[in-house]
Amino acid sequence: MVDRARASFYDSPFNPRRTAMNLKNRTLIKIKGFLFFFLGILSASLLLTRTLSVYSAVLLLVAIWSFCRFYYFAFYVLHNYVDPMFNYSSLSSLVAYFLKKKQAAAPPVENPTLLVIDCSPRVKASISRVLTNDFAEAWKSKHPGRPVIHRDLGTQSLPYVTEAWIEATSSSAPLTPEQKAEVAVSDELIRELKTADHYVIAIPMYNFTVPANFKAYIDQIARAGETVTFSATGVEGQLKNKRVTIIISCGDRYTDDSIMAPCNFVQSYLRTILGFLGLTDIRFFFADRVGEVTFGQRTRENYLNEIREKARELEIP
Ligand SMILES: Cc1cc2nc3c(=O)[nH]c(=O)nc-3n(C[C@H](O)[C@H](O)[C@H](O)COP(=O)(O)O)c2cc1C
Repeated sequence: MVDRARASFYDSPFNPRRTAMNLKNRTLIKIKGFLFFFLGILSASLLLTRTLSVYSAVLLLVAIWSFCRFYYFAFYVLHNYVDPMFNYSSLSSLVAYFLKKKQAAAPPVENPTLLVIDCSPRVKASISRVLTNDFAEAWKSKHPGRPVIHRDLGTQSLPYVTEAWIEATSSSAPLTPEQKAEVAVSDELIRELKTADHYVIAIPMYNFTVPANFKAYIDQIARAGETVTFSATGVEGQLKNKRVTIIISCGDRYTDDSIMAPCNFVQSYLRTILGFLGLTDIRFFFADRVGEVTFGQRTRENYLNEIREKARELEIP
């Protein structure tokens, strides 16, 4: 059962490295490369022996070159400009990608609730808090009167998971009053997640990953039987049909063309852990280069004017 559950995790759309896995075996890579090359040479030779002329040889070369360029260009564009989590492995990976994207989209909800999660311990100077606030205001204009839940992890610390917590959450017997008290915070956080339909989460990048308060939050909400279930058919996240908007604020820049790109552990981590809980419709927005404000190259006001304008392009669900 464990193997089956692991396989279903590996195979799921929230495992960011899944599509590249079949390219890891070196012998297989060589065999595949040779077969493709051999097939190409064979087909070209058969065609040219039938219609041997300089004209058809040149056209064949142009066709091969153009298709190779198109193929490379299409995947380059997809990976660099559409979705950096897409890993090319074959044409079928492309088809699977679009099918999964369709499945991942949360359907519209009639009377939605918004959950706003802030993580920055900075209250006055925070960049990400301004953006979650703007998002919530725009959301309220779109859904007048609908409730907004605010969870502030930056100013209210959560308890870490303890031995008693682990025992309580893995027990199949009815919980004792002490155990109920132990998981009360977790219960409340999970209730908020289940109640809300749309989430907006601000993540200030700390030391290339999520801040410790958000990790403590994840440890409280990722609970077997509550937000994720394990069965003979596999792992199943229980937070379904929710739209997640994530605002990442960071000092540096982590776009794919930047040398810092490999140091961005925030995005792949979030995609994996949220996907594990069933959240697959995720939009990311970067408030990057905040370092320019920190190190006095520009004013906070100047930075905010620009980034708030850019953030207005975020789709409000
Ligand atoms: C403890 C700490 C660690 C940080 N680590 C990083 C980092 O690894 N990479 C980065 O680009 N910025 C880093 N920063 C900069 C913050 O991500 C940036 O200031 C961001 O705007 C913080 O969000 P906030 O403005 O909402 O508080 C760090 C800041 C602090 C205080």
